[in-house]
Amino acid sequence: MHICTDSKDFQQQMLALRQQGKTIAFVPTMGNLHEGHLSLVKMAKAKADITVVSIFVNPLQFGPNEDFSAYPRTLSDDQSKLETLAVDYLFLPTIEGIYPRGKDLHTSVSAHDSLTNKLCGASRPGHFLGVTTIVNILFNLVQPHIAIFGKKDFQQLLVIKRMVEDLRLPIEVIGGAIVREKNGLAMSSRNGYLTALEKDQAAHLRATIIATQKQIEAGDDDYPSLIRNAKKLLKQDGFNVDYFEIVDQTTLAPADSNSKQLLIAAAAWLGQPRLIDNQEVTLQ
Ligand code: PAJ
Repeated sequence: MHICTDSKDFQQQMLALRQQGKTIAFVPTMGNLHEGHLSLVKMAKAKADITVVSIFVNPLQFGPNEDFSAYPRTLSDDQSKLETLAVDYLFLPTIEGIYPRGKDLHTSVSAHDSLTNKLCGASRPGHFLGVTTIVNILFNLVQPHIAIFGKKDFQQLLVIKRMVEDLRLPIEVIGGAIVREKNGLAMSSRNGYLTALEKDQAAHLRATIIATQKQIEAGDDDYPSLIRNAKKLLKQDGFNVDYFEIVDQTTLAPADSNSKQLLIAAAAWLGQPRLIDNQEVTLQ
């Protein structure tokens, strides 16, 4: 596995691979890799000649009261996991290499508000601006044919797809299924902040989403009432709910009785971490 830290040098290497006619699949990450990340890497390996993974904890997408400094950094473990999967390139840029004038003076790229001000965007102002900006920079450095993002961050996947479409970036964006712990909890780098007891409790987030899915599939389309009920149950289970929404899968606007492609999406704090999860629901 080639490990590159210098952005310019790395971009040259990617350009050379493209000129040799190689196809490149890219998985951007912030590290602390778990099976969720690795499932995306395996997809990438199956789809192109060259697999590139980046690890960069992007300061631009963290709010002032969020966990940028505390975010788990486990580089040597991450590196060996990627080596085991025979990843071709690991890109480890520095903050200065990415934002040479400082992150606050950097050109930003934003997707339209109608996608970024809802769900996670409502409670994390500026978050998606940070994500689209870094992903754009990484796309320009890696120049991938294919980029893979997890459906765990469904809104992020949608925002990136929209950015790629609107800016005509010649990249195919693919979503990978959510990988879960045995108890149903979606794997996340932030699960490490949970105590063992909280990890058991955390499974209730998934269970509440699935119970809501079953009610919708059984024909209940009183979404405001389903949402109220789910929030009440989560509160009883010890969660501090940020949002629990039933939305249209492509616009993220609240679903109504005509919606067929739905997304149940939730974010809630349990102890320290804020957990997110979602479920796609397709109605006939
Ligand atoms: P990070 O949280 O490290 O996630 C990297 C990728 O792994 C994302 O596409 C995310 O959706 C996916 N992922 C995380 N947990 C997953 C799970 N349990 N199952 C499937 N996929 C999962 O998302 C980011 O980093 C950053 O915002 C980034 C895109 C790298 C930009 O900085």
